[in-house]
Amino acid sequence: MLEVQDIHTYYGKSHVLHGISFKIETGEILGILGRNGVGKTTTIRSIIGLTPPREGKIIFDGKDITRMPAYKRARLGISLVPQGRNLFPRLSVRENLETGVIKKLTEEDLNRVLSVLPVLGERLNQKAGTLSGGEQQMLAIGRALVSNPKLILMDEPFEGLMPVLVLKLIDVIKQINKMGVSVLIVEQRVKTALEISHRILLMENGMIKWEGLPEELSKNPEALYKYLGVSV
Ligand SMILES: Nc1ncnc2c1ncn2[C@@H]1O[C@H](COP(=O)(O)OP(=O)(O)OP(=O)(O)O)[C@@H](O)[C@H]1O
Ligand SMILES: [Mg+2]
Repeated sequence: MLEVQDIHTYYGKSHVLHGISFKIETGEILGILGRNGVGKTTTIRSIIGLTPPREGKIIFDGKDITRMPAYKRARLGISLVPQGRNLFPRLSVRENLETGVIKKLTEEDLNRVLSVLPVLGERLNQKAGTLSGGEQQMLAIGRALVSNPKLILMDEPFEGLMPVLVLKLIDVIKQINKMGVSVLIVEQRVKTALEISHRILLMENGMIKWEGLPEELSKNPEALYKYLGVSV
């Protein structure tokens, strides 16, 4: 459903992605792991259109979206859970969800979100800034889900959550995936990525250095140490 072909992405003169290629199949959860600053967020920004690549191609559902503006990509069915959540703290939960849809928030959209994230239903009128960290992360995911996307890009959704909430969120993401949504998830913690991903990419210096199944990575101490600094 998504095909990233040899993309090179820059911030001004700074060349950050050096020829990245990968595919996400329909119904797949793809995990991207890598240390700080290797280009994980830049990969997501390239796909969503915030920092389009200067070279290479991005194909979504057979369409070349490489130079398409971000709002059009959203209409095609790609949505984002940004790193650090980016909620509107003074707006209510419902109003934050409204920012995720193009037209009006329908009952159907809202019910779909609340079926996976019931915690939001109890708090629709509460200001987002007063939610707990875990609830805020659920809201950030709800906002991405409300537009009924085909693909959700999640940039470190587990950041700052205690372990019990991480487990809960893993469940939520698996449920969303079972609804037919493909997921690209960027993560720093190996264990979480192993638990949630169907397939994993390891990045270093703006390149993909390893690709395989979670069970292959868990049996590969060299790759874990070299690219993630984890000793097992
Ligand atoms: N807006 C920007 N302008 C210039 N350089 C940037 C910008 N955003 C990111 N970079 C640089 O691009 C490189 C990759 O950053 P990126 O945010 O993609 O890393 P990351 O893998 O997501 O890291 P982290 O795990 O810390 O979120 C870094 O060297 C960073 O300093
Ligand atoms: Mg990042």
